[in-house]
Amino acid sequence: MKKMTKMIKALNEQINKEIFSGYLYLSMVSYFEEHSLDGFASWFKAQAQEELFHAMKIYDFVHEIGGTVVLEAIEKPDIEWTSPLQIFEEGLEHEKFITASIHELVDLAQEEKHYPALDMLKWFVAEQVEEEANFSYHVDLLKMSGDKGSALLFMNSKMAARVPLPLSADQMAE
Ligand code: FEO
Repeated sequence: MKKMTKMIKALNEQINKEIFSGYLYLSMVSYFEEHSLDGFASWFKAQAQEELFHAMKIYDFVHEIGGTVVLEAIEKPDIEWTSPLQIFEEGLEHEKFITASIHELVDLAQEEKHYPALDMLKWFVAEQVEEEANFSYHVDLLKMSGDKGSALLFMNSKMAARVPLPLSADQMAE
């Protein structure tokens, strides 16, 4: 086993949280698929993919600084969802939890004078502002639209613009 400093241990925990985020959003995709809200489903699939990208950014960084990545079990996400609004509210709460976790990592990097980690984490601090703003915006829209089906369908068609990255034919064949 290679280096497992306090900083690397904490970064490993963040990798797990980012992968869990992807898992959580995939569970939300399922609700939207079941309710034929394909635009929302597409948006959340892209969001789930983005979480894996977040995890990989830290995963690669840990290796770059000579640390070891230790993958732990991923917690089972909730699977019972009641409405698009409830889903976005849960998503917003989850992103706040992730923001707090990133801020704790920044605190630790400062304490440990780990300048490379501090530099890498700057990207995540800015990203979390965007993540929370994204969820918060949709919570506001869904609250405004109330139970109106027409507003939901309009949002659904707008959200279809965000699509997950396609797997290439080559990747599928491998
Ligand atoms: Fe990776 Fe949505 O935070």
